[in-house]
Amino acid sequence: MSRYISGIKPTGHLTLGNYIGAIKQFVALQNEGELFLFVADLHALTLPINPQDLRKNSIDIIALYLASGLDKDKVNIFLQSDVPAHSELAIILQNYLYMGELSRMTQFKDKTQKMNSEAIGVGIFTYPILMAGDIVLYDADYVPVGDDQVQHVELARDLVRRFNNRYGEILKMPKAVKVKNGSRIMSLSNPTVKMSKSDPKGDIFLDDDLKVIRKKIMSAVTDLGHEIKYDVEEKPGISNLLTIYSALTGISIPDLEKKFAGYMYGQFKQEVANVVVDEIDKLKKNYAEIINSNIIDEVLNKGKLAASKIAEATLHRVQKAVGLYK
Ligand code: TYM
Repeated sequence: MSRYISGIKPTGHLTLGNYIGAIKQFVALQNEGELFLFVADLHALTLPINPQDLRKNSIDIIALYLASGLDKDKVNIFLQSDVPAHSELAIILQNYLYMGELSRMTQFKDKTQKMNSEAIGVGIFTYPILMAGDIVLYDADYVPVGDDQVQHVELARDLVRRFNNRYGEILKMPKAVKVKNGSRIMSLSNPTVKMSKSDPKGDIFLDDDLKVIRKKIMSAVTDLGHEIKYDVEEKPGISNLLTIYSALTGISIPDLEKKFAGYMYGQFKQEVANVVVDEIDKLKKNYAEIINSNIIDEVLNKGKLAASKIAEATLHRVQKAVGLYK
């Protein structure tokens, strides 16, 4: 049975991009293999964050995982910081990744572009080391992620190659997997950039009011012309809306082009809004039930145990391989 590992960073309100590119993918995979899903709370510390926000965001992600249909009995859900092997492994692995390759990471460049280098925490630079450790700890076959995280998974693969060349077959080679439609949901206000937690204008947040969501979709930037056609170069706005519709309904994009032939942009947006609002409405109802129950601690305790067992075995293997006396 294949094993999958992935995580979400609790740095802000989750977006429709996180939902389509990551969470919906997790839900689909839970019947395919063994799933380990965590909240990357240590990663959230790499940029300034309030302790209250970090705690609340972390719990919210667990509740959203469950509200989205992840089955607590099938999937192992845990907090990264509950499994100390993540931190311990990162200290070892940092010696096998290089300054040059870390400074070329898109996420590092994007996040630190406007910062004063005197005030950039080292953690945002070494982020991919911790992430590579997150992945290899679980001997995972696959890492389900959105497009923007593939570069990090590639770096983890480089690390595995390098480490195993030196010490033998110690780490398992992971592979990134993405959803067919929706691995890069774009901003509604600028469909040439990715929808991200830090772009309130173009984002749909999962905890936005349903009316606000509808309004954001109705005012999404569209393109010249009037045809509902998938063409990322010429029609990035319409293409993004088609992708969202397709990802949420499972209807293929060519079939959607046929379905919406002859629609005006406004009518089409109305249809997209209906689909998004329906989905998020269901999610909100489930979320409200879960957040008011005491299921979260139960899920986290079970997840921590299952994750620790595998993570500690891998850590031990690595410690022995590099010559730490065990
Ligand atoms: P994060 O928290 O930024 O994003 C969580 C997941 O959501 C995906 N995603 C998107 N997918 C489609 N369209 C978008 N606009 C969009 N925005 C975000 C991301 O690709 C990701 O899959 N470094 C990771 C967290 C992490 C991790 C790991 C993931 C830490 N360790 C180990 C996998 C394995 C992050 O910051 O994701």
